[in-house]
Amino acid sequence: GLPSRVRIHEVGPRDGLQNEKAVVPVAVKAEFIKRLVAAGLRTVEATSFVHPKWVPQLADAEELYPLVSGLRDAEHPRSPSPAASARPAPADSPADPADAAAPGRLSEPADVSLPVLVPNARGLERALTLGARQVAVFASATESFARANLNRTVDEALAMFEPVVARAKEERLTVRGYLSMCFGDPWEGPVPVAQVVRVCKSLADMGCDELSLGDTIGVATPGHVSALLAALHEAGLPASGTAPARTPDNDDTEAAADPGSAPATTPRLAVHFHDTYGQALANTLAALQHGVATVDASAGGLGGCPFAKSATGNLATEDLVWMLHGLGIETGVDLDLLSSTSLWMAEHLGRPSPSRTVRALSGT
Ligand code: HMG
Ligand code: MG
Repeated sequence: GLPSRVRIHEVGPRDGLQNEKAVVPVAVKAEFIKRLVAAGLRTVEATSFVHPKWVPQLADAEELYPLVSGLRDAEHPRSPSPAASARPAPADSPADPADAAAPGRLSEPADVSLPVLVPNARGLERALTLGARQVAVFASATESFARANLNRTVDEALAMFEPVVARAKEERLTVRGYLSMCFGDPWEGPVPVAQVVRVCKSLADMGCDELSLGDTIGVATPGHVSALLAALHEAGLPASGTAPARTPDNDDTEAAADPGSAPATTPRLAVHFHDTYGQALANTLAALQHGVATVDASAGGLGGCPFAKSATGNLATEDLVWMLHGLGIETGVDLDLLSSTSLWMAEHLGRPSPSRTVRALSGT
């Protein structure tokens, strides 16, 4: 069945804005992040601590992060009643009838996370200095993209991440491992599933709490998504992970209780679709059917990757929310507030949002 609740990992401020030609003023970025949180998003990827020459759009990370880090500890009102907010009629047979009554409402309090990308020890140091608590490393399933994005081979990049993940875990941070080019690569074409599984296992062995499977150039189709998730399951990496996130507090309790049968902790899986070929929602549904309950998206469909030919925007968060609420799946997001945030950002960027849902809701 489908999950009753999905955690949306909002990447607009990072994956969206990293690809903009014009540098967005830091105050506008901070306002964007605040509005996303106010719209009910609880995981908002804020920026990257990468080399400023590689990604000039995010060179202001040191200025931006302190402007938004207080959002993590602030009290946030729950989304207003979903009846007040535009949403599709629930489907006839939603995942859970109890959820269908109020698909937009959060049923439990949730903290705000503001993860940041860190490619190496220098990036992690910068993030720790500013008090970041969630970080992400970003690997590639293909040699061509590893070279283009990280100036390394796949294995050199993994070797670069290993001490970063270890140090981050020591500091009790939550670590996400991105894996790019999981389906197709602009230089190499279709990517063999086994190649993706191998790198996923390396990231899992390092101790990542979550893996995000990236379709960087948006070429995946639902059958390919199913095949990859089935292969990962087969390889011991089920979508939900096999234990709660490892923390110093619960690290040894379960294993000690039953050392023989306790499975090793494995990361939960997330999906990260770009919508280049209009497949992102269909791919998301395929992933939900495999038990994935964390989905990356970017408000208004902003985004792309400056190091991958033909990468366009991520799946638009509004399009995702429309589908999830229609399925009776909780997100905690107020679609009207989110959509007006994307319209506001589109004005700043001087072009309309590519999100179909934003356009439909705003009548533009
Ligand atoms: P490099 O040139 O090999 O770096 O780049 P290096 O390790 O040789 O160091 C060279 C210089 O850079 C040194 O300075 C370092 O201190 C400095 P120097 O001693 O020469 O003065 N340096 C740094 N400065 C600030 N912050 C740092 C840092 N690291 C080194 N963190 C590097 C290697 C990884 C740094 C570079 O390739 C890089 O920054 N790449 C980032 C690329 C990127 O951000 N791509 C976009 C994100 S990934 C993505 O969008 C895909 C995703 O959305 C999923 C999907 O869709 O698939 C996540
Ligand atoms: Mg991306």
